[in-house]
Amino acid sequence: MSKQEEKISQLIEKRAQARLGGGEKAIEKQHARGKYTARERIAMLLDEGSFEELDMFVTHRCTNFGQDKKHILGDGVVTGFGTIEGRLVYVFAQDFTVFGGSLSETMSLKICKVMDLAMKMGAPVIGLNDSGGARIQEGINALAGYSEIFQRNILASGVIPQISAIMGPCAGGAVYSPALTDFTIMTKGLSYMFLTGPSVVKTVTGEDVTQEQLGGASVHASKSGVTHFAAESEEETLQLVRQLMSYIPQNNLEETPLVDCKDPIDRLEDKLNDIIPDNPKQSYDMYEVIAAIVDDSKFLEVSKDYAKNIIIGFARFNGQAVGIVANQPKVLAGVLDSNASRKGARFVRFCDAFNIPIVTLVDVPGFLPGTGQEYNGVILHGAKLLYAYGEATVPKVTVTLRKSYGGSHIVMSCKQLRGDMNYAWPSAEIAVMGAEGAVGVLYAKEAKNSDNPAEFIKMKEDEYRDLFANPYQAAKYGYIDDVIEPRNTRFRVIKALNMLATKKVTNPAKKHGNIPL
Ligand code: HXC
Repeated sequence: MSKQEEKISQLIEKRAQARLGGGEKAIEKQHARGKYTARERIAMLLDEGSFEELDMFVTHRCTNFGQDKKHILGDGVVTGFGTIEGRLVYVFAQDFTVFGGSLSETMSLKICKVMDLAMKMGAPVIGLNDSGGARIQEGINALAGYSEIFQRNILASGVIPQISAIMGPCAGGAVYSPALTDFTIMTKGLSYMFLTGPSVVKTVTGEDVTQEQLGGASVHASKSGVTHFAAESEEETLQLVRQLMSYIPQNNLEETPLVDCKDPIDRLEDKLNDIIPDNPKQSYDMYEVIAAIVDDSKFLEVSKDYAKNIIIGFARFNGQAVGIVANQPKVLAGVLDSNASRKGARFVRFCDAFNIPIVTLVDVPGFLPGTGQEYNGVILHGAKLLYAYGEATVPKVTVTLRKSYGGSHIVMSCKQLRGDMNYAWPSAEIAVMGAEGAVGVLYAKEAKNSDNPAEFIKMKEDEYRDLFANPYQAAKYGYIDDVIEPRNTRFRVIKALNMLATKKVTNPAKKHGNIPL
């Protein structure tokens, strides 16, 4: 064997060793936990054969607690770049087989390197998290490492998309990197996120709670809203990342690639002409409306188990990706509350940051009243949605299906918040408030003094409905650009989006606004 051949075989051997991470036993243990290894996950995430690994020979520099005798090539994270549907992405996958994927100084350097490359190249970063948190032996260096990552998350926010998959433990301050990214996907049964684990909770508050109850995927998908998706398996988690990527551009200066659309753009959906019940108190399912108007009825819903009174997610019109925000009359009559407002606001801001047009479907009776909401700061949370729509400069198409009352009318992308095309169905009711509330305020005294209060109230409510429970008052002033036939909604939205393709609006120059947080 020549010297060169010897060197090459050494390289091959080292590579093979690095690819084993923490070793065969640790890999078996990982599989026994029902989990894939970091490299297996990357292979499932990226286009076949596209992964280029970086820094596979990096080892940690710690000498505390006998660490100088324990070096593993790659040191707890696999990093590099590859493609998803042919588009460049940067990836880091924490390797639980190496010191439990715990974050060392050098691991942080590896992650920061791909984040820096992603910023230079204008490409998304996808993090696959599976880690015991800060590497305890490294002390403050591990914390500094996290801080470097957080700082990059912050600077990259709104410049390149950042997606976090949580595929194992994610505890302590480590949860803040995913929280700073645009989307979080958790794997049910295998992942959890919390600031402090069950034993500390027990010590501090006396509360008995399991990891799953404290920070499992279902909890964060439905109660806290921390995760946007809860997937059934690792395969589904990684597929979701790929699917999500298809709706998102590479960076804030680009647009999402168009896809071929075979669904006729002028498809009429007769059932929409009948979907609004005659009784205003009856509900209908907004998902049916969304499915009827978007390309091939495909809708990738975001945060589907959280604040179900508002629906957000991605779809396409004539191949163009859009963000959809819609009230759901089936849940709490589609009312806006604190959680729905926060959920909607963050999504609107994401779409705006990444040039994704927003289509808003409105059927909202108002904001949820009461001490529960007021004490919870619904004023501030509602203002977030208001702010998000008002600052958004992407094309905004609004369709009012039925109710659009008061403050909630304004918040849901009204004309004066720079709604570009505001359409209404003939069933729309655009007014300061509903008939019952309005008559209660305006005619309480007269009703009391009348011979037949019930009849008097009914008469006044009918009068109010005739005047206001329609789209024509708003259309009269140009606040609604057109009243459209429901079955033709798809075509009208597509035509509006086409017309808005060259939209250019800029906000006043500033360091940054002060969104009510
Ligand atoms: C160093 C760690 C580690 C850590 C796990 N390991 N966490 N090594 N630092 N933080 C090691 C274990 O010693 C073990 O090594 C291997 O990883 C696998 O861990 P196990 O405990 O055997 O696995 P499992 O039973 O599945 O339990 C996983 C776990 C548990 C729940 C994550 O390891 C754990 O509780 N770890 C500590 C979690 C924690 O408190 N982290 C610090 C949070 S504070 P061997 O050699 O035996 O295989 C924090 C601050 C961040 O992160 C602040 C950012 C701002």
